[in-house]
Amino acid sequence: MKGVILAGGLGRRLHPLTKITNKHLLPIYDEPMIYYPIKSLVEAGIDDIMIVCGGNHAGEFLRLLGNGREFGLKHLNYAYQEHEGGIAEALGLCEHFADKDKVIVFLGDNIIGSSLKNIVEKFAKQSDGARILLKEVDDPTDYGVAKFNESKDVIQIIEKPEMPPSNYAVVGIYMYDSNVFDIIRTLNPSARGELEITDVNNAYLKENKLKYSILEGFWADAGASVEAYYQTVHIVRKFKIDKN
Ligand code: G1P
Repeated sequence: MKGVILAGGLGRRLHPLTKITNKHLLPIYDEPMIYYPIKSLVEAGIDDIMIVCGGNHAGEFLRLLGNGREFGLKHLNYAYQEHEGGIAEALGLCEHFADKDKVIVFLGDNIIGSSLKNIVEKFAKQSDGARILLKEVDDPTDYGVAKFNESKDVIQIIEKPEMPPSNYAVVGIYMYDSNVFDIIRTLNPSARGELEITDVNNAYLKENKLKYSILEGFWADAGASVEAYYQTVHIVRKFKIDKN
């Protein structure tokens, strides 16, 4: 399975912190934000990773991460997203890299406190389709939100709903078979002018090919707002101090 980390965007929600650097290079306690998704993937056994950069300061990723030696990798792959086209568009740039393999996509501002090993293994055994991760949160209105039927199957994902149908947010970690690239080609831009990953997931749902796992441990989306960024630093600091 290949790993893709999406680290583009202009980080508008974190201005002015992101005026002179990329959001994913900001510190989260004692390491740059981008270190966390890389470490999560490597720990889960994914060692072929592409980082999609974009916007300004993309060259800094190369300077910071190089060939990934610090993470035990032999090499790292990079792609550049030329426009602010959304998560699904950024993933579309990785078709050649994925080379018909399954992919795990990690949004570069998502940080988790548990291992992905079991979930990755489950998806490796899944014959086809997609798998998303859900996490119960107090206020899911900033995220994709799952709507369930009585048997607890997900029947729809709604992006940033004002009236959430549940408290289960869609985590920014997604697993897809190679059909994802055909699905991306069918998408139209949303109201915010982006190809939405939620539309990709709903396309899999329509085909009855979307499964989900509940994420254990903490989940933080450091890029949602300055407040979310601050909370993430706080959670990660406490997590690391408690571990030692
Ligand atoms: C994106 C997705 C959303 C998901 C979130 C997780 O939101 O569109 O469905 O819940 O990431 O971080 P964005 O950060 O683009 O607003």
